[in-house]
Amino acid sequence: MRRAVCPGSFDPITNGHLDIIARASRLYDTVYVAVMINQSKQGLFTIEERIALIEEVTGELGNVRVESFHGLLVDFCKQREIPAIVKGLRAVSDFDYELQMAQMNIGLTGVETLFVPTNPAYSFLSSSLVKEVAQWGGDISHLVPSPVLHALKPKLRQR
Ligand code: PNS
Repeated sequence: MRRAVCPGSFDPITNGHLDIIARASRLYDTVYVAVMINQSKQGLFTIEERIALIEEVTGELGNVRVESFHGLLVDFCKQREIPAIVKGLRAVSDFDYELQMAQMNIGLTGVETLFVPTNPAYSFLSSSLVKEVAQWGGDISHLVPSPVLHALKPKLRQR
């Protein structure tokens, strides 16, 4: 049974995330999506809302499990016997920090990190930019799955 994890904050999931998860789901038997809890970061969506949206948009892939975790990613992997972390790389600017984390993680428990080049259509995309553009009424319908688009509208109105 080949397992991998796609970790992140997913506040909210974008088409860029979804592309990486879908590609990982074709390479591995089971892909865990780990919604990592960072208590120092106030998110727009609650952890439960993020999980529900990810479950909805990854449902048809058939081999994706979505869970939240408070702690180190390496401990999430150890507890579930996951040997590989899959991360999307959007640009060279992502590389420095991702390399640091990959080297830290392999040093901690031996878990490997595999980098997948982001689809160029999404190389500029981030959850933060999506929220900023949506907040000011910009069109993000091509950048997020439709359940996310619908969930964003009432959230941003509450702000
Ligand atoms: O979507 P993000 O916010 O860019 O994802 C970053 C994330 C959550 C994958 C990263 O911060 C992480 O792995 N956090 C879990 C805590 C941890 O293991 N920290 C040590 C990293 S070497």
